[in-house]
Amino acid sequence: MSSSDPLDISLVPKGLLELNFSALAQEFNTPLFIYDEDELRRRCREYTANFPTVVYAGKAFLCKAMVQLIAEEGLSLDCATGGELHVALTAGMPASRIVFHGNNKSLAELSMAVDAGVGHVVVDSFDEIERLGAIAVEQKKVVPVLVRVTPGVEAHTHEFIETGTEISKFGFTISEGVAINALNRVHENPSLYLRGVHCHIGSQIYRLDAFSRAINRLAELALAARNQYGIIFSILNLGGGLGARYLSEDPQISITAYSQVLHDSVATAWGASDLGDIPAIMVEPGRSIAAPSAITLYRVGTIKEIPGVGTYVAVDGGMSDNPRPVLYGSGYEAYLPERVHENRPFACSVVGKHCEQGDIIVADAQLPAKVQPGDLLATPTTGAYGYSMASNYNMVPRPAVLFASNGEVRCVLRRETPEDLTRLDG
Ligand code: LLP
Repeated sequence: MSSSDPLDISLVPKGLLELNFSALAQEFNTPLFIYDEDELRRRCREYTANFPTVVYAGKAFLCKAMVQLIAEEGLSLDCATGGELHVALTAGMPASRIVFHGNNKSLAELSMAVDAGVGHVVVDSFDEIERLGAIAVEQKKVVPVLVRVTPGVEAHTHEFIETGTEISKFGFTISEGVAINALNRVHENPSLYLRGVHCHIGSQIYRLDAFSRAINRLAELALAARNQYGIIFSILNLGGGLGARYLSEDPQISITAYSQVLHDSVATAWGASDLGDIPAIMVEPGRSIAAPSAITLYRVGTIKEIPGVGTYVAVDGGMSDNPRPVLYGSGYEAYLPERVHENRPFACSVVGKHCEQGDIIVADAQLPAKVQPGDLLATPTTGAYGYSMASNYNMVPRPAVLFASNGEVRCVLRRETPEDLTRLDG
């Protein structure tokens, strides 16, 4: 593709190509997150067709409507904090379908999770095994547990979101016998019910061989656990991590292809070690469900040409609704949704309205010629880790979020108002 080609429309879910964007901007204002609800559901279904248990990672994007969609589609939910747990329970998610995560869960969070009766607590440290055991005794319950382990493999992604290497702050390393000690500690505790292991090697992963290498390490651990302590894993939670396609040149890896690699790798590794029955495989996708299902709609405010430097196209959002370019140097496409099929010969940088030079949304954008102040501009693939990492920096109210289905939209999160910005003041 040449750089002036139109947007590759396969980056935008079908249900978001033909909406009346100016009417939506009029009614809901901009910036605006718009999800294709049918695409969200389609992605959930592709996951549930491929795995017995699919645990949506709420950190990617969570609100009551999203919890309800996940519950309706038969998925479980990964909550990583008391706050996520609160939203999940408030929205009616059955506690038994919640997997509770976190590398530093507070006593209050652990008690809340045990009290609610979450399906699994994923333990992350020796301190936590003790604490959870004590809470279980106090509440007279036996808590189902997965032990989070780090396999010591690289995932070929940004270092900030790589979690399976030896330097990870998460879980118990398999090397030096740490993970097996943790497994035995849980196994010996009558108030904890060891169900298996959890392993999340990172996020935005395109190289599927990284998952296979992690699975091989898990099989070694399973063998050692069985031989030393008679521990059998009933569940193998392989975390999330499947990469989403942000740019037209990025690879498109289907959920089904990813599933095939995971299932084949587990079968091969378990077979080679003569481990007997294969445990039930759980996955925890966040990004690969949410990211490709949404776009962000902005309005262009000013266009500034700097001689000898280039052109800045400034929109009415920025790092407060999408901090990913600043945090990880992430790339996005930009397009004018009302002129989606036009060539994009105009090279520019799409920037936000915040008080930082680093407040860039798309550093190397291509847009149709004659983009003007007042035009609507969109970025695709913004459904994960955008709204969920949004802030009120510069006292910018958080955008509204719409779910579109069959050409109809509903507002699932209203835009914050100026009053919301002072509601916490004492
Ligand atoms: N399970 C666990 C334990 C996780 O920590 C995560 C993501 C997931 C599942 C879901 O991973 P996914 O399928 O979404 O890759 N803010 C970063 C991403 C951080 C990911 C954190 N953990 C970003 O914007 O790229």
